[in-house]
Amino acid sequence: MAKPEPGITLVGGGRMGSALAGGWIGAGYDGPIAIHDPNPTEQLKAWEAAGKIALNPAPEPAATLVVAVKPQIFPKITDTVTPLVGPDTLVLSIMAGITLDGMAGKLDTKRVARAMPNTPGLIGKGMTLLCLPDDASPDDGAYLKDLLAPLGDVEGPIREDQLSAATAISGCGPAYAFLLAEVMAAAGKAHGLDEAMALRLAKKTIEGAGALMMDADEPPSKLRENVTSPGGVTKAALDVLMRADAMPSLMEEAVGAAIKRDRELSGD
Ligand SMILES: NC(=O)c1ccc[n+]([C@@H]2O[C@H](COP(=O)([O-])OP(=O)(O)OC[C@H]3O[C@@H](n4cnc5c(N)ncnc54)[C@H](OP(=O)(O)O)[C@@H]3O)[C@@H](O)[C@H]2O)c1
Repeated sequence: MAKPEPGITLVGGGRMGSALAGGWIGAGYDGPIAIHDPNPTEQLKAWEAAGKIALNPAPEPAATLVVAVKPQIFPKITDTVTPLVGPDTLVLSIMAGITLDGMAGKLDTKRVARAMPNTPGLIGKGMTLLCLPDDASPDDGAYLKDLLAPLGDVEGPIREDQLSAATAISGCGPAYAFLLAEVMAAAGKAHGLDEAMALRLAKKTIEGAGALMMDADEPPSKLRENVTSPGGVTKAALDVLMRADAMPSLMEEAVGAAIKRDRELSGD
């Protein structure tokens, strides 16, 4: 299969779509960018005014079509998306819960791909999962990884049967980290700290621990051991958090629940 021609058509210029488009524009993407969105934001209008994108142009088959509308909208707008798909169009969906087969069936093409971003992608610090059909060309995979780079790191291609589990880690994971900040701050408040200060301490600590983890050569378990002196203060807390019925088993159960729900929503 030929390498995709330059040119991107994006359907859905919302938060994720705009994060992608902003990255393509900033990186000087080598091809025209068309964005379809019935209610364009001021940002989309400004890009159009600056000649960076074509906003809601007449529909024509795209070289690469990126679908970034909410999944519940997609079945209602299939008729407006199909004219954007030609025989050579490479289609990338970032919609949660719509399978490669579902996408291929609705758009009558086999050249489809899925990506699952996460919210840190909105500031370029995301982890996006890329999923391709078994017979996809390596060129398409490499090209799509580049296309998704504005959101941060890209993992894949991964098999579609792994996507639910991977989504339960990186797609849902920001919520787990936000919850950690919430419960740390609440615990600080419960033990007498000022609420706002407790939240500042929790947020900065999670940010700093994340940065250290990414910078260090050691795995997280070693970094944890490094702050845990025998008989010390941190050890007293971890003895509670790491009890048999506590964080490790709770996380496994939580991830299992997320996987089950993802499969239900995808119709698997
Ligand atoms: N945000 C995340 O963390 C995240 C993570 C993983 C996957 N995703 C996926 O990414 C996709 C986009 O999410 P998002 O957070 O960017 O949503 P969003 O901000 O709501 O963006 C969707 C955009 O599509 C527009 N739209 C509605 N109908 C349309 C149509 N007929 N044609 C073209 N555009 C239309 C919406 O306009 P209106 O606002 O006027 O309706 C909105 O601007 C979703 O499928 C979601 O599952 C998001």
